[in-house]
Amino acid sequence: MTMAASRVFSVTHLLVAAYAVLGGSAQPQQRGGCFARVFSFGDSIIDNGNWLRYSASSPGTVASSPYGNTFFHRPTGRFCDGRVIIDHIVDALGIPFLTPYLAGNSSKDFVNGTNFAVGGATALGQDYFKARNIDDGFVPFSLQTQMSLLKNVTRMLSSEQGLSDVMSTSLFLVGEIGGNDFNRALFRGKSADEVTSYIPDIIAVISATVTELIGLGAKRIVVPGNFPIGCSPGYLTKFQTNDTSQYDAAGCLKWANNLTQLHNAALKVELALLGQNHPDAAVLYADYYTPVMSIVADPGKQGFAAGTKPLVSCCGGGGGPYNVDFGTQCGAKGSTVCADPGAAVSWDGFHFTEHVYKVVVDAVMPSVLASCGTAGGGN
Ligand SMILES: *[C@@H]1O[C@H](CO)[C@@H](O)[C@H](O)[C@H]1NC(C)=O
Ligand SMILES: *[C@@H]1O[C@H](CO)[C@@H](O)[C@H](O)[C@H]1NC(C)=O
Ligand SMILES: *[C@@H]1O[C@H](CO)[C@@H](O)[C@H](O)[C@H]1NC(C)=O
Ligand SMILES: *[C@@H]1O[C@H](CO)[C@@H](O)[C@H](O)[C@H]1NC(C)=O
Ligand SMILES: *[C@@H]1O[C@H](CO)[C@@H](O)[C@H](O)[C@H]1NC(C)=O
Repeated sequence: MTMAASRVFSVTHLLVAAYAVLGGSAQPQQRGGCFARVFSFGDSIIDNGNWLRYSASSPGTVASSPYGNTFFHRPTGRFCDGRVIIDHIVDALGIPFLTPYLAGNSSKDFVNGTNFAVGGATALGQDYFKARNIDDGFVPFSLQTQMSLLKNVTRMLSSEQGLSDVMSTSLFLVGEIGGNDFNRALFRGKSADEVTSYIPDIIAVISATVTELIGLGAKRIVVPGNFPIGCSPGYLTKFQTNDTSQYDAAGCLKWANNLTQLHNAALKVELALLGQNHPDAAVLYADYYTPVMSIVADPGKQGFAAGTKPLVSCCGGGGGPYNVDFGTQCGAKGSTVCADPGAAVSWDGFHFTEHVYKVVVDAVMPSVLASCGTAGGGN
């Protein structure tokens, strides 16, 4: 979820794709065994600079220090102290950091893939929320929109290689997406029961996207579930209560984690079905919930410094038990940052530190790499 999600947006900055012809004729290298490139969809969890470009003159505090300080030593538009999940994934494959879609101009910028994720993006489209009286600050990059942008890019790339070749040699990361569909509704007062009723619709749009990718020739698709949102300092602050029965042993909000679990369970069932119906493709569920829950339950055991407080945001405006102040967000004047982000779990109340993202990617990569041997008949 982007902190600036409630802004009103002016002109969109959608890139008009040019039909550039690929310079150079060398076949792309196949990394990790079968991946020539990576395409990713999602929201601020993996945005590597699209929101910054889209929002232009009003990006909010993500454009300020200390965002980016740990790794890039400057703000890059990542909602993190350093590298986000997609950065760690391409790193593991030996692929350079992807050009954010809105930063690229030609096929040359996208030879190694690109990232369509935009901070604030939802799985469902704007009409869905408008119909439920949630109609402010929509970020016009729903999953379907991101999918249409992919088609523009693959059209550029396939002027040299056939489309099915481009698709079959690419890794697709579809998400995490859907987290903002929850956030937008819950933070505007919708009940957990109402949001539960959105889950089948969120799953349906993810499923349609995966189906479309497979139809275009994709062979390896990774679809992450959501995080335990009930452990995020943002949720813990917004929905703080004196009713101790609402908290689990780790101090997380049970009802909110319940929502994630319902979403993840429904997603898993749907992906298994898609896998059965398309035996030619590897459709993998990536479990983001379990590694984060393990860190929250016992950070020391998971390689974080002893004394790490997993429910306290590293960067924030202070006040309250979670270091979250919605009036003074991370990066705003008056906010503070912890001495060692590498020992922290939450970066800014809604997003994790690059350390957490690395642990999550380390948990997921083995099955991604194994998919090279199992699907698509090799390339
Ligand atoms: C996608 O390509 C079409 C041309 O086929 C173009 O009209 C459209 O603007 C492009 N969309 C984006 C968002 O780049
Ligand atoms: C795309 O074009 C813009 C405007 O000319 C430029 O600032 C930007 O650096 C270009 N992007 C890449 C990846 O070359
Ligand atoms: C793509 O990857 C190659 C190395 O494999 C690198 O030389 C090139 O600069 C990358 N292109 C982009 C646009 O990142
Ligand atoms: C918890 O109880 C205290 C004392 O009655 C009250 O001041 C405070 O507002 C309550 N907090 C919440 C979140 O309900
Ligand atoms: C969590 O979900 C289960 C059903 O899966 C339900 O029985 C339980 O009441 C829920 N707990 C909370 C706190 O929402």
